Amino acid sequence: MPEKREKFYLTTPIYYTNGLPHIGHTYTTVVADVIRRYKRMRGYDVVMTTGTDEHGVNVERAAKKAGIPESEFVAKMAEAWRALWDELGIPADEFIRTTDLKHVRTVQWLFKLCRENGYVYKGHYTGQYCIYDNAFVNDAKPGDNCPDCGRPLETVTEENYFFKLSSFQKSLLDFYKKNPDFIQPDTRRNEIISFVEGGLKDLSITRTTIRWGIPVPGEEPHVFYVWFDALTAYLSAVGGPEYEKRGYWPADLHLVGKDIIRFHTVYWPAFLMAAMLPVPKQVWAHGWFLMDAAKMSKSKGNVVLPRPIVNMLGMDALRYFLLRDVVFGQDGNFSYDALVTRYNSDLANGLGNLASRTAALIEKNFAGKIPKPGTLKPQDEVLAKEAQAAIGEVLENFDKLSFARALETIWTVIAVADKYLTSEQPWALGNSEAEQSRKATVLWTTAELLRIVSVLSFPVLPDSAAKVWSLLGQSDALGKFELDGLRWGHLVPGTPLGKSQTLFPRVDKTEAIERIEAMANEELNPPKAAPAPAVSAPATTGASAAAAAAPAVSDKIGIEDFAKVEMRVGQIKTAERIVGADKLLKLTVDIGTEIRQICAGIAQYYEPESLIGRKVAVVVNLAPRKLRGVESNGMIVAASVGPEGRPVLTGFHEEVEVGARLK
Ligand code: MSP
Repeated sequence: MPEKREKFYLTTPIYYTNGLPHIGHTYTTVVADVIRRYKRMRGYDVVMTTGTDEHGVNVERAAKKAGIPESEFVAKMAEAWRALWDELGIPADEFIRTTDLKHVRTVQWLFKLCRENGYVYKGHYTGQYCIYDNAFVNDAKPGDNCPDCGRPLETVTEENYFFKLSSFQKSLLDFYKKNPDFIQPDTRRNEIISFVEGGLKDLSITRTTIRWGIPVPGEEPHVFYVWFDALTAYLSAVGGPEYEKRGYWPADLHLVGKDIIRFHTVYWPAFLMAAMLPVPKQVWAHGWFLMDAAKMSKSKGNVVLPRPIVNMLGMDALRYFLLRDVVFGQDGNFSYDALVTRYNSDLANGLGNLASRTAALIEKNFAGKIPKPGTLKPQDEVLAKEAQAAIGEVLENFDKLSFARALETIWTVIAVADKYLTSEQPWALGNSEAEQSRKATVLWTTAELLRIVSVLSFPVLPDSAAKVWSLLGQSDALGKFELDGLRWGHLVPGTPLGKSQTLFPRVDKTEAIERIEAMANEELNPPKAAPAPAVSAPATTGASAAAAAAPAVSDKIGIEDFAKVEMRVGQIKTAERIVGADKLLKLTVDIGTEIRQICAGIAQYYEPESLIGRKVAVVVNLAPRKLRGVESNGMIVAASVGPEGRPVLTGFHEEVEVGARLK
């Protein structure tokens, strides 16, 4: 236990406000929350920061599209982000917005320090600029596409203030050498070291082509380059110029995705060194969650949203999956199938089942009170040893941010306990004194193991671990338990069990996936005329929060809005069922100019064969999306009839040409 509550400050990136969170963003914030809970249980005084990155040309454009001022646009979006983190139970201790006055002042102050120390000069810059990533792309030629996002670059010439990044090559390399843990994992560290060894060019840190940014005092129309602005948010969140008063700076840990490691490990420490401010202790770059091996983006239709998963399986299930399935630092593929499989095997059949079995046996045999163990047999001692050893191993892995390993260890112990119960068969023992005593020993041992498991799994499964904890009759707040004092053997006999609660009800995989996908579709394509979310973002989600963030619109739409929907007469060529999806049919449809694959939720009402040759109305300019892993490129129009919403396909009573437009 650190003396006098040592401080620990960690951050997530601050997220762009031209979109809303998908599973990738949720991942970073969940990891931060797990570390926060873990560090608190190790006795630290922890502050975790997240927030929103609200300046730049993308926001300028999105606000214009929404027809509202930028300030109003970002206020709504920031609120939507904050609200979702609250809803998911992962709110920040400090939520910083880059439009907050305290942040604006901190950025201006940092610039002043860098300038006073001789690291800022005025110059001109012409370069290829990616407006989506807010970055000039070194070495790109006019007409090139952005190497990161693939979109076209724009040629931009500006009068800028430059930061003398080139002066920091040696200091940075020395710093990396002296602080070998600064960049994690090691592969990223090597990557950055060779980048810096290759030479650093000065960096333009102000813009005159953008209006929506923090003004450079006395130098209007210069505004700060978004990364100079955004990185500083970490410092503004904990006091800015008065950071010493609060005592959380330098940050102990910046969690970032691998895409933004250079900003955090080269530019950020250089800015701070130039201002003679302390440099953060560690930057940890994790990998990406991919969908079908590609980065998620709304335009690709492969975005995974957190809310539908949480509604179906609970937040703990999502947290568990994110941390268990992928080694922290590496890329991982997201699949609903893997998610639900893990849920059923590890949570419902694993932890949930062990807890309910144990509690039911104690209830039945010991009137709901933790029994007093009798003489131990070797197998009881083996189990105790395994659990005790797991404590050290799990803590060590949490310290290294090896979450998957930590969880693996906990679940190995759960499996051992399951086997132990099965072979000891306490339910088969009779009522003689010896048998009662044996029963008590076995059930105390299993309950004690569950107590250890609930403490160790709390950072990842805060709700469920707390349920197990109170089921075992423990009344103190589990989040305040001091991990350093966790030892085998502390479960007090005689403690009455708490109320039994269902932890993880088993789900039918196919049905669960269908429901998650249906909820996600609804969130991404909200019904009702209008709120096309006020968002034109890369890698974003719509979400009902986006609808909330959208400006108020009238219920009536103009003809120009209707004209946006391109509907054509299509003819169904083939139709087949999709294995594992009761409601969907996979169709190929001739729309005049091409044959499209379209999934339609009509399988319960139409036999596939009856559809061949039928002419239907098709929305042809809908972004493609995946339904149960099958690409759907368009939508068949149907009436929704009766309370159950039975689909009735549109038809034509006169001869119509395939491909004719509906107007
Ligand atoms: N605003 C900048 C960060 C400024 S920090 C001073 C930014 N924002 S972002 O919203 O585009 O993304 C922020 C972070 O979200 C990424 O670095 C990464 O941590 C996380 N992720 C976004 N998509 C992701 C996946 N598909 N998978 C995992 N994490 C991803 O960059």
